[in-house]
Amino acid sequence: MLTLTAKRLHDATKRIFVAAGTPPDLAGQMADVLVESNLVGHDSHGVLRIPAYVESIRRGGIVPDARPEVVEETAGSALVDGKYAFGHIAAAFATEVAVRKAKESKAVVVSIVRCNHIGRLGEWASRAAAKDVVAFVCVGGSGGPGIAAPFGGAARALSTNPISIGIPGGELPDMLVDFATTMIAEGKVQAARAKGAQLPPGCILDKNGNPSTNPEDLYAGGMLLPFGGHKGYGLAMVVELLGGALAPGEKFNGAGRRGGAVIIAVDASTFHPLADYRKSADYHLGRIKEIPPAPGFSAVMLPGEPERRSKEDRLRDGIPVAEATWNAIVETGKSLGVTVE
Ligand SMILES: NC(=O)c1ccc[n+]([C@@H]2O[C@H](COP(=O)([O-])OP(=O)(O)OC[C@H]3O[C@@H](n4cnc5c(N)ncnc54)[C@H](O)[C@@H]3O)[C@@H](O)[C@H]2O)c1
Repeated sequence: MLTLTAKRLHDATKRIFVAAGTPPDLAGQMADVLVESNLVGHDSHGVLRIPAYVESIRRGGIVPDARPEVVEETAGSALVDGKYAFGHIAAAFATEVAVRKAKESKAVVVSIVRCNHIGRLGEWASRAAAKDVVAFVCVGGSGGPGIAAPFGGAARALSTNPISIGIPGGELPDMLVDFATTMIAEGKVQAARAKGAQLPPGCILDKNGNPSTNPEDLYAGGMLLPFGGHKGYGLAMVVELLGGALAPGEKFNGAGRRGGAVIIAVDASTFHPLADYRKSADYHLGRIKEIPPAPGFSAVMLPGEPERRSKEDRLRDGIPVAEATWNAIVETGKSLGVTVE
Protein backbone atom coordinates (compact mmCIF):
# COMPACT_ATOMS: atom_id res chain seq x y z
CA MET A 1 0.00 0.00 0.00
CA LEU A 2 1.32 3.46 -0.92
CA THR A 3 0.47 6.64 0.95
CA LEU A 4 0.08 9.62 -1.37
CA THR A 5 -0.90 13.23 -0.78
CA ALA A 6 -4.13 14.67 -2.13
CA LYS A 7 -2.05 17.17 -4.14
CA ARG A 8 -0.08 14.44 -5.86
CA LEU A 9 -3.25 12.56 -6.83
CA HIS A 10 -4.89 15.79 -7.97
CA ASP A 11 -1.94 16.72 -10.23
CA ALA A 12 -1.84 13.23 -11.78
CA THR A 13 -5.61 13.15 -12.38
CA LYS A 14 -5.72 16.57 -13.98
CA ARG A 15 -2.74 15.95 -16.27
CA ILE A 16 -4.09 12.59 -17.47
CA PHE A 17 -7.54 13.96 -18.25
CA VAL A 18 -6.08 16.99 -20.07
CA ALA A 19 -3.96 14.61 -22.18
CA ALA A 20 -7.14 12.64 -22.94
CA GLY A 21 -8.75 15.76 -24.46
CA THR A 22 -10.43 17.37 -21.44
CA PRO A 23 -10.29 21.18 -21.21
CA PRO A 24 -8.13 22.18 -18.18
CA ASP A 25 -11.05 23.67 -16.19
CA LEU A 26 -13.11 20.46 -16.52
CA ALA A 27 -10.05 18.26 -15.83
CA GLY A 28 -9.47 20.30 -12.65
CA GLN A 29 -13.08 19.73 -11.59
CA MET A 30 -12.71 15.98 -12.23
CA ALA A 31 -9.54 15.93 -10.12
CA ASP A 32 -11.35 17.79 -7.30
CA VAL A 33 -14.21 15.27 -7.28
CA LEU A 34 -12.19 12.04 -7.58
CA VAL A 35 -9.65 13.07 -4.94
CA GLU A 36 -12.48 14.18 -2.62
CA SER A 37 -13.94 10.64 -2.90
CA ASN A 38 -10.59 9.26 -1.74
CA LEU A 39 -10.34 11.81 1.05
CA VAL A 40 -13.78 10.96 2.45
CA GLY A 41 -12.95 7.25 2.34
CA HIS A 42 -14.90 6.10 -0.74
CA ASP A 43 -11.86 4.84 -2.67
CA SER A 44 -14.15 2.86 -4.99
CA HIS A 45 -15.23 6.20 -6.52
CA GLY A 46 -11.86 7.95 -6.45
CA VAL A 47 -8.73 7.91 -8.62
CA LEU A 48 -9.14 4.14 -9.06
CA ARG A 49 -11.65 5.03 -11.78
CA ILE A 50 -9.18 6.98 -13.96
CA PRO A 51 -8.21 4.08 -16.28
CA ALA A 52 -11.86 3.14 -16.89
CA TYR A 53 -12.87 6.73 -17.61
CA VAL A 54 -9.98 7.15 -20.08
CA GLU A 55 -11.03 3.88 -21.72
CA SER A 56 -14.59 5.21 -21.97
CA ILE A 57 -13.28 8.38 -23.66
CA ARG A 58 -11.43 6.19 -26.18
CA ARG A 59 -14.58 4.16 -26.90
CA GLY A 60 -16.68 7.31 -27.30
CA GLY A 61 -18.74 6.80 -24.13
CA ILE A 62 -17.48 9.94 -22.37
CA VAL A 63 -17.15 13.12 -24.46
CA PRO A 64 -14.39 14.86 -22.49
CA ASP A 65 -14.94 18.40 -23.77
CA ALA A 66 -18.76 18.33 -23.64
CA ARG A 67 -20.51 20.85 -21.40
CA PRO A 68 -24.03 20.13 -20.12
CA GLU A 69 -26.89 22.58 -20.58
CA VAL A 70 -30.50 23.10 -19.53
CA VAL A 71 -32.83 22.09 -22.37
CA GLU A 72 -36.25 22.49 -20.72
CA GLU A 73 -37.16 24.62 -17.71
CA THR A 74 -40.11 25.73 -15.57
CA ALA A 75 -40.06 27.58 -12.22
CA GLY A 76 -40.00 24.24 -10.41
CA SER A 77 -38.02 22.01 -12.76
CA ALA A 78 -35.11 21.77 -15.17
CA LEU A 79 -34.09 19.09 -17.62
CA VAL A 80 -30.33 18.95 -18.08
CA ASP A 81 -28.75 17.44 -21.18
CA GLY A 82 -25.54 15.86 -19.90
CA LYS A 83 -24.34 15.52 -23.53
CA TYR A 84 -22.38 12.43 -22.43
CA ALA A 85 -19.84 14.70 -20.76
CA PHE A 86 -18.17 13.22 -17.67
CA GLY A 87 -21.21 12.38 -15.50
CA HIS A 88 -19.56 14.30 -12.66
CA ILE A 89 -19.48 17.47 -14.76
CA ALA A 90 -23.18 17.01 -15.59
CA ALA A 91 -24.03 16.34 -11.93
CA ALA A 92 -22.05 19.39 -10.75
CA PHE A 93 -23.89 21.55 -13.27
CA ALA A 94 -27.30 20.06 -12.40
CA THR A 95 -26.62 20.59 -8.68
CA GLU A 96 -25.85 24.27 -9.30
CA VAL A 97 -29.08 24.60 -11.28
CA ALA A 98 -31.05 22.81 -8.52
CA VAL A 99 -29.61 25.05 -5.79
CA ARG A 100 -30.24 28.25 -7.75
CA LYS A 101 -33.81 27.25 -8.59
CA ALA A 102 -34.54 26.04 -5.02
CA LYS A 103 -33.52 29.49 -3.75
CA GLU A 104 -35.96 31.06 -6.26
CA SER A 105 -38.89 28.61 -6.07
CA LYS A 106 -38.39 26.81 -2.70
CA ALA A 107 -38.72 23.26 -4.14
CA VAL A 108 -37.54 21.97 -7.52
CA VAL A 109 -36.73 18.81 -9.40
CA VAL A 110 -33.86 18.54 -11.88
CA SER A 111 -33.31 15.55 -14.12
CA ILE A 112 -30.18 14.71 -16.14
CA VAL A 113 -30.42 12.74 -19.38
CA ARG A 114 -27.57 11.57 -21.63
CA CYS A 115 -25.67 11.16 -18.39
CA ASN A 116 -22.52 9.14 -17.72
CA HIS A 117 -21.44 7.73 -14.32
CA ILE A 118 -21.78 10.55 -11.75
CA GLY A 119 -19.46 8.95 -9.17
CA ARG A 120 -20.05 9.39 -5.45
CA LEU A 121 -23.59 10.76 -5.11
CA GLY A 122 -22.76 12.30 -1.73
CA GLU A 123 -20.60 14.89 -3.49
CA TRP A 124 -23.69 16.47 -5.05
CA ALA A 125 -25.98 16.24 -2.01
CA SER A 126 -23.18 17.75 0.13
CA ARG A 127 -22.67 20.65 -2.23
CA ALA A 128 -26.39 21.51 -2.04
CA ALA A 129 -26.49 21.14 1.77
CA ALA A 130 -23.48 23.48 2.07
CA LYS A 131 -25.68 26.10 0.40
CA ASP A 132 -28.60 25.56 2.80
CA VAL A 133 -30.56 23.39 0.39
CA VAL A 134 -31.88 19.91 1.25
CA ALA A 135 -31.14 17.59 -1.68
CA PHE A 136 -32.20 14.06 -2.62
CA VAL A 137 -30.05 12.64 -5.43
CA CYS A 138 -30.52 9.28 -7.14
CA VAL A 139 -29.42 7.41 -10.26
CA GLY A 140 -31.23 4.47 -11.78
CA GLY A 141 -33.77 3.20 -14.25
CA SER A 142 -31.36 1.74 -16.76
CA GLY A 143 -34.04 -0.86 -17.46
CA GLY A 144 -31.87 -3.87 -16.65
CA PRO A 145 -30.49 -6.42 -16.64
CA GLY A 146 -28.25 -4.69 -14.08
CA ILE A 147 -26.67 -6.76 -11.34
CA ALA A 148 -29.22 -6.93 -8.52
CA ALA A 149 -32.29 -9.11 -7.97
CA PRO A 150 -35.61 -7.67 -6.80
CA PHE A 151 -36.71 -8.90 -3.33
CA GLY A 152 -37.99 -12.44 -3.78
CA GLY A 153 -36.59 -12.71 -7.32
CA ALA A 154 -34.02 -15.06 -8.79
CA ALA A 155 -32.73 -13.04 -11.76
CA ARG A 156 -30.89 -9.75 -12.28
CA ALA A 157 -33.21 -6.80 -12.91
CA LEU A 158 -31.84 -3.70 -11.15
CA SER A 159 -28.57 -1.78 -10.87
CA THR A 160 -27.17 -0.74 -7.50
CA ASN A 161 -29.65 2.20 -7.61
CA PRO A 162 -27.87 4.55 -5.17
CA ILE A 163 -29.41 7.43 -3.24
CA SER A 164 -27.89 10.34 -1.40
CA ILE A 165 -29.62 12.90 0.82
CA GLY A 166 -27.89 15.98 2.15
CA ILE A 167 -29.53 18.00 4.95
CA PRO A 168 -27.98 21.24 6.19
CA GLY A 169 -27.06 21.53 9.85
CA GLY A 170 -26.76 24.79 11.79
CA GLU A 171 -23.72 25.07 14.05
CA LEU A 172 -23.50 21.28 13.74
CA PRO A 173 -22.21 19.76 10.47
CA ASP A 174 -24.57 18.93 7.60
CA MET A 175 -25.98 15.40 7.55
CA LEU A 176 -25.18 13.17 4.59
CA VAL A 177 -26.84 9.85 3.75
CA ASP A 178 -25.17 8.22 0.74
CA PHE A 179 -25.37 4.57 -0.32
CA ALA A 180 -26.32 1.99 -2.90
CA THR A 181 -29.64 0.24 -2.24
CA THR A 182 -27.90 -3.12 -2.57
CA MET A 183 -26.63 -4.81 0.59
CA ILE A 184 -23.06 -4.45 -0.64
CA ALA A 185 -21.44 -2.44 -3.43
CA GLU A 186 -20.21 -4.54 -6.36
CA GLY A 187 -16.70 -3.13 -5.80
CA LYS A 188 -16.68 -4.72 -2.36
CA VAL A 189 -17.49 -8.14 -3.89
CA GLN A 190 -14.57 -7.63 -6.27
CA ALA A 191 -12.31 -6.80 -3.33
CA ALA A 192 -13.37 -9.97 -1.43
CA ARG A 193 -12.84 -12.04 -4.58
CA ALA A 194 -9.32 -10.63 -5.03
CA LYS A 195 -8.46 -11.58 -1.43
CA GLY A 196 -10.12 -15.02 -1.69
CA ALA A 197 -12.44 -13.98 1.19
CA GLN A 198 -16.09 -14.95 1.73
CA LEU A 199 -18.89 -12.35 1.85
CA PRO A 200 -21.13 -11.80 4.86
CA PRO A 201 -24.40 -13.77 4.56
CA GLY A 202 -27.33 -12.03 2.86
CA CYS A 203 -25.36 -10.09 0.21
CA ILE A 204 -25.69 -12.24 -2.92
CA LEU A 205 -27.56 -15.11 -4.56
CA ASP A 206 -25.96 -17.57 -6.97
CA LYS A 207 -27.26 -17.96 -10.54
CA ASN A 208 -30.00 -20.34 -9.35
CA GLY A 209 -31.25 -17.91 -6.73
CA ASN A 210 -29.69 -19.69 -3.76
CA PRO A 211 -28.01 -17.66 -0.97
CA SER A 212 -24.23 -17.63 -1.29
CA THR A 213 -21.22 -16.13 0.44
CA ASN A 214 -18.79 -16.99 -2.38
CA PRO A 215 -17.87 -13.87 -4.43
CA GLU A 216 -17.21 -16.07 -7.49
CA ASP A 217 -20.94 -16.86 -7.61
CA LEU A 218 -21.76 -13.24 -8.45
CA TYR A 219 -19.54 -13.38 -11.53
CA ALA A 220 -20.95 -16.76 -12.56
CA GLY A 221 -24.40 -15.25 -13.18
CA GLY A 222 -25.37 -14.50 -9.59
CA MET A 223 -26.89 -11.29 -8.25
CA LEU A 224 -26.65 -8.72 -5.48
CA LEU A 225 -29.51 -8.46 -2.99
CA PRO A 226 -31.22 -5.24 -1.93
CA PHE A 227 -30.39 -4.14 1.65
CA GLY A 228 -33.07 -4.46 4.31
CA GLY A 229 -35.20 -7.05 2.49
CA HIS A 230 -38.47 -5.68 1.11
CA LYS A 231 -37.77 -2.21 2.55
CA GLY A 232 -34.48 -1.61 0.73
CA TYR A 233 -36.04 -3.17 -2.34
CA GLY A 234 -38.83 -0.58 -2.10
CA LEU A 235 -36.24 2.21 -2.12
CA ALA A 236 -34.45 0.58 -5.09
CA MET A 237 -37.77 0.65 -6.97
CA VAL A 238 -38.28 4.34 -6.10
CA VAL A 239 -34.87 5.04 -7.67
CA GLU A 240 -35.72 2.83 -10.66
CA LEU A 241 -38.87 4.80 -11.41
CA LEU A 242 -37.49 8.26 -10.68
CA GLY A 243 -34.45 7.57 -12.89
CA GLY A 244 -36.30 5.54 -15.50
CA ALA A 245 -39.75 7.10 -15.77
CA LEU A 246 -39.58 10.63 -14.32
CA ALA A 247 -36.24 11.25 -16.07
CA PRO A 248 -37.05 10.96 -19.80
CA GLY A 249 -33.89 9.01 -20.63
CA GLU A 250 -35.72 6.73 -23.04
CA LYS A 251 -36.53 9.70 -25.27
CA PHE A 252 -33.08 11.35 -25.15
CA ASN A 253 -30.41 8.76 -24.57
CA GLY A 254 -30.67 6.77 -27.80
CA ALA A 255 -29.49 3.22 -28.46
CA GLY A 256 -31.98 1.81 -25.95
CA ARG A 257 -30.16 3.47 -23.05
CA ARG A 258 -32.73 4.30 -20.43
CA GLY A 259 -32.19 5.83 -17.02
CA GLY A 260 -30.87 9.05 -15.60
CA ALA A 261 -30.14 11.04 -12.49
CA VAL A 262 -32.69 13.02 -10.53
CA ILE A 263 -32.13 15.77 -7.94
CA ILE A 264 -35.00 16.96 -5.75
CA ALA A 265 -34.00 20.14 -3.92
CA VAL A 266 -35.77 22.11 -1.18
CA ASP A 267 -34.62 25.45 0.24
CA ALA A 268 -34.01 24.98 3.99
CA SER A 269 -35.74 28.30 4.66
CA THR A 270 -38.98 27.27 2.92
CA PHE A 271 -41.19 27.27 6.04
CA HIS A 272 -39.33 29.48 8.51
CA PRO A 273 -36.34 31.83 8.48
CA LEU A 274 -32.96 30.16 7.97
CA ALA A 275 -31.85 31.00 11.53
CA ASP A 276 -34.88 29.10 12.91
CA TYR A 277 -34.27 26.18 10.56
CA ARG A 278 -30.66 25.97 11.72
CA LYS A 279 -31.67 26.00 15.39
CA SER A 280 -34.19 23.21 14.80
CA ALA A 281 -31.75 21.12 12.75
CA ASP A 282 -29.15 21.41 15.51
CA TYR A 283 -31.72 20.34 18.11
CA HIS A 284 -32.42 17.10 16.21
CA LEU A 285 -28.81 16.37 15.29
CA GLY A 286 -27.51 17.21 18.78
CA ARG A 287 -30.11 15.03 20.53
CA ILE A 288 -28.83 11.98 18.65
CA LYS A 289 -25.18 12.79 19.35
CA GLU A 290 -25.93 12.75 23.09
CA ILE A 291 -27.08 9.11 23.01
CA PRO A 292 -24.57 6.90 24.87
CA PRO A 293 -22.86 4.24 22.76
CA ALA A 294 -24.09 0.64 22.95
CA PRO A 295 -21.61 -2.09 23.92
CA GLY A 296 -19.10 -2.54 21.10
CA PHE A 297 -19.47 1.08 19.86
CA SER A 298 -17.29 4.03 20.88
CA ALA A 299 -19.81 6.74 19.87
CA VAL A 300 -23.04 7.31 18.01
CA MET A 301 -22.12 8.86 14.66
CA LEU A 302 -24.47 10.83 12.46
CA PRO A 303 -24.67 9.93 8.75
CA GLY A 304 -21.83 11.82 7.04
CA GLU A 305 -19.59 11.69 10.12
CA PRO A 306 -17.43 8.76 8.93
CA GLU A 307 -16.68 10.71 5.74
CA ARG A 308 -15.71 13.86 7.70
CA ARG A 309 -13.46 11.86 10.00
CA SER A 310 -11.79 10.13 7.04
CA LYS A 311 -11.15 13.48 5.36
CA GLU A 312 -9.48 14.91 8.47
CA ASP A 313 -7.30 11.79 8.82
CA ARG A 314 -6.33 11.58 5.16
CA LEU A 315 -5.55 15.29 4.79
CA ARG A 316 -3.20 14.88 7.75
CA ASP A 317 -1.72 11.41 7.08
CA GLY A 318 -2.09 10.96 3.31
CA ILE A 319 -4.33 8.72 1.20
CA PRO A 320 -3.68 4.96 1.07
CA VAL A 321 -3.59 3.79 -2.56
CA ALA A 322 -3.07 0.14 -3.53
CA GLU A 323 0.08 -0.36 -5.62
CA ALA A 324 -1.96 -2.05 -8.37
CA THR A 325 -4.26 1.01 -8.53
CA TRP A 326 -1.34 3.43 -8.74
CA ASN A 327 0.45 1.30 -11.37
CA ALA A 328 -2.71 1.26 -13.51
CA ILE A 329 -2.90 5.07 -13.27
CA VAL A 330 0.79 5.41 -14.20
CA GLU A 331 0.27 3.08 -17.21
CA THR A 332 -2.80 5.05 -18.31
CA GLY A 333 -0.69 8.23 -18.11
CA LYS A 334 2.08 6.61 -20.18
CA SER A 335 -0.40 5.56 -22.87
CA LEU A 336 -1.26 9.27 -23.23
CA GLY A 337 2.35 10.47 -23.14
CA VAL A 338 2.07 11.74 -19.54
CA THR A 339 4.69 10.87 -16.94
CA VAL A 340 2.88 10.52 -13.64
CA GLU A 341 5.10 10.87 -10.61
N1 LIG B 1 -22.71 6.48 -9.29
C1 LIG B 1 -23.22 5.29 -9.08
O1 LIG B 1 -23.81 4.72 -9.97
C2 LIG B 1 -23.05 4.63 -7.73
C3 LIG B 1 -23.60 3.35 -7.53
C4 LIG B 1 -23.44 2.76 -6.27
C5 LIG B 1 -22.78 3.40 -5.24
N2 LIG B 1 -22.25 4.64 -5.48
C6 LIG B 1 -21.50 5.35 -4.42
O2 LIG B 1 -20.71 4.41 -3.69
C7 LIG B 1 -20.44 4.95 -2.40
C8 LIG B 1 -20.48 3.82 -1.39
O3 LIG B 1 -21.79 3.26 -1.31
P1 LIG B 1 -22.09 2.13 -0.21
O4 LIG B 1 -23.45 1.58 -0.50
O5 LIG B 1 -20.93 1.19 -0.14
O6 LIG B 1 -22.14 3.04 1.12
P2 LIG B 1 -21.76 2.62 2.62
O7 LIG B 1 -22.32 1.30 2.94
O8 LIG B 1 -20.31 2.88 2.81
O9 LIG B 1 -22.62 3.69 3.47
C9 LIG B 1 -22.24 5.04 3.47
C10 LIG B 1 -23.28 5.84 4.23
O10 LIG B 1 -23.49 5.32 5.53
C11 LIG B 1 -23.08 6.29 6.52
N3 LIG B 1 -22.46 5.55 7.63
C12 LIG B 1 -21.50 4.59 7.54
N4 LIG B 1 -21.19 4.13 8.76
C13 LIG B 1 -21.96 4.81 9.64
C14 LIG B 1 -22.10 4.77 11.07
N5 LIG B 1 -21.39 3.93 11.83
N6 LIG B 1 -22.98 5.61 11.64
C15 LIG B 1 -23.70 6.46 10.89
N7 LIG B 1 -23.62 6.53 9.54
C16 LIG B 1 -22.77 5.71 8.92
C17 LIG B 1 -22.14 7.21 5.79
O11 LIG B 1 -22.05 8.47 6.41
C18 LIG B 1 -22.82 7.28 4.43
O12 LIG B 1 -23.94 8.12 4.46
C19 LIG B 1 -21.45 6.05 -2.19
O13 LIG B 1 -20.76 7.28 -2.26
C20 LIG B 1 -22.41 5.94 -3.38
O14 LIG B 1 -22.93 7.19 -3.84
C21 LIG B 1 -22.37 5.26 -6.69
